[in-house]
Amino acid sequence: MNFKIAVIPGDGIGIEVTAQAVKVLKTVGEKFGHVFEMTEADAGGCAIDKHGEPLPAQTLEVCKNSDSVLLGAVGGPKWDTLPGSQRPEQALLGLRKGLGLFANLRPAVLHQALKDASPLKPEIIGDGLDIMVVRELTGGIYFGDRGRTEDAAFDTMKYSVGEIERITRVAFEIAMKRNKNIVSVDKANILENSRLWREVVEKVAKEYPGVQVSHMYVDNAAMQLVRNPKQFDVIVTGNMFGDILSDEASMITGSIGMLPSASLGAGKLGMYEPVHGSAPDIAGQDKANPIATIISVAMMLRYSFNLTQEADVIEKAVSSVLDKGYRTGDIMSEGMQLAGTAAMGQLIIDEIQD
Ligand code: IPM
Ligand code: MG
Repeated sequence: MNFKIAVIPGDGIGIEVTAQAVKVLKTVGEKFGHVFEMTEADAGGCAIDKHGEPLPAQTLEVCKNSDSVLLGAVGGPKWDTLPGSQRPEQALLGLRKGLGLFANLRPAVLHQALKDASPLKPEIIGDGLDIMVVRELTGGIYFGDRGRTEDAAFDTMKYSVGEIERITRVAFEIAMKRNKNIVSVDKANILENSRLWREVVEKVAKEYPGVQVSHMYVDNAAMQLVRNPKQFDVIVTGNMFGDILSDEASMITGSIGMLPSASLGAGKLGMYEPVHGSAPDIAGQDKANPIATIISVAMMLRYSFNLTQEADVIEKAVSSVLDKGYRTGDIMSEGMQLAGTAAMGQLIIDEIQD
């Protein structure tokens, strides 16, 4: 099969980690006889430098004409003083909105080989963690009206029934393939849009009698994630709560450098990116962990291209390399073998070719 992929390396370590993920894609293509036609495009800080804006129209065009998007990371100190509307992060928001990617899947999985990396006590982790955060991505306070008066500022949090319905359905479909347990997170004791959120989730839940649903206030959810994370299977929540809780969920796995994400819309096109950022402090030093981006590619194959076997091969290759004791700096521990970005990529490629 033939697939068109837009590759947006972005800034900082985004460039190094996507380079490894691209090599992995090529290897998988050769092994399974697929053609992945890749087109590079600029977004983020590098696009500000080159084109004067974080998301040039041609980048959005390339993405719209592709079957999927692979993104590294955007941002860095160089652009931190720009006004909000011109910052590199705007590229992400523009891509999400422009491509209609309303569903953000952020799996927080603890790899067996990295059990000791979690900051939580072993008795809380038990035999592992596997949580899927389903975050609404194109609505809520991120996209509501905002503004400033002389001595005040405001941001509006608004959700429509349709927006809540479609993200809830995504969460239920995912839960059906997992442990059939959803916790919907809101702040319904205070926010009117959260009360609507609850009503809609309850309504959609009737279509999925096999799935267990409960509701949790976001402050409690933040606490429960560190108190007893094993109670969670799928978490569905709005844009900002999902932003915050997905960072927390990734941290308790102890390895943010390992976590992929998928942003999906109504069709097959998705955007796949590591959960971590551009890490300017280690950029260009061959120190970054490329695994999150490489597993993001596996998610792309699985969710956008339906290439399940190919996705499995990538994930298994990553596990074997970890089992053999290879580690990048961020997940390094005593007795393990340190590998740089490119070496880690190559080790995974060697496993895939095997
Ligand atoms: C994320 C990031 C972004 C967000 C920023 C960089 C705009 O934190 O993807 O979680 O808040 O959505
Ligand atoms: Mg975030």
